Amino acid sequence: MKKRVFSGIQPTGSLHIGNYLGAIRQWVSSQSQYNNIFCIVDLHAITIPQDPKVLRAKNRETAALLYAAGIEPDLSTVFIQSHIGAHAELAWILNCYIPMGWMQRMTQFKEKSKKKKEEVNIGLFDYPALMAADILLYQSDLVPVGEDQRQHVELTRDVARRFNSVYGEVFKLPESTVNEVGARIMSLDDPTKKMSKSKTGKSHAINLLDSPDEIYLKIMRAKTDSLHSIRFDRNHPAIHNLLTIFELFSGLSRIDIEERFEGKGYAIFKKELAEVIIEFLKPLQLRYQEITNDPSYIDHLLAEGDAKLRPIAEKTLNHVKSAIGLG
Ligand code: TYM
Repeated sequence: MKKRVFSGIQPTGSLHIGNYLGAIRQWVSSQSQYNNIFCIVDLHAITIPQDPKVLRAKNRETAALLYAAGIEPDLSTVFIQSHIGAHAELAWILNCYIPMGWMQRMTQFKEKSKKKKEEVNIGLFDYPALMAADILLYQSDLVPVGEDQRQHVELTRDVARRFNSVYGEVFKLPESTVNEVGARIMSLDDPTKKMSKSKTGKSHAINLLDSPDEIYLKIMRAKTDSLHSIRFDRNHPAIHNLLTIFELFSGLSRIDIEERFEGKGYAIFKKELAEVIIEFLKPLQLRYQEITNDPSYIDHLLAEGDAKLRPIAEKTLNHVKSAIGLG
């Protein structure tokens, strides 16, 4: 039996190269080894205000981008979280087994809740419980994510362990898998901040559907620092981040990259970096156009996903409910 991989992505903003390098790249490359489920987490998305029309369109766009990036319908199932009611139901049940203190420690909540107080809703606070429900419903073994989600997967393990210690082996304990390189791609305009879908700064992120001109401009504008030499040096986070992006898109080793740019200036490096990204994204963007030419194709795959996964989710939920005496 192949191990089960589960991961999720929010259908908000635009998918960017951080999402690709931190998460989607892992999903694609290990697809044939595992039994894979990828969830478009629209219930998580509504923890911040969303335009209904845009949200609906983004669900499909995100699914199309995953297939364009190399997710194969024969090897992986993609579905929309809100289509399977068991996610919200299990999240509620898990709420009753998660101490407030565990949630208060979540760094992502601490960061996101720095905004205006009235915009911070209970859903945002409870976000990790829904994420735990996503993962546990499918008895997942592995959860490939970027660095920022590792703590949420730890919380998932903790709540599963707590629940199992009372009711027996109801849930499998999942493990996160995080890439050694690229698990935290930083913003182009501020290398102390993570590249993020919710930031709108002009040169903050490179989106997977950006045109060659946009990519070129954003890279040329990207912050560098005063090192004046092109080396992988963690003390110089701006150039380190750009070099990491170059490394992952070019497939070259760090030594080869440093040799290639020895004695050269930032302008030459940035021009090559932009070219490497543009070339990498070209086939992905072409596939995206092909896939979205026929909107019924995505709808059909998503409906198949629902039908395949609903019985698995319901089986776990029924097990949970009977263990705790509900129904
Ligand atoms: P989301 O939509 O923010 O991001 C999707 C995936 O991309 C990774 N990622 C990054 N990796 C490297 N560098 C970055 N700058 C960067 N930004 C994002 C994220 O770590 C993630 O793996 N809570 C999740 C979605 C979710 C989920 C789940 C994930 C809901 N349920 C169950 C796994 C399992 C989120 O908001 O991801």
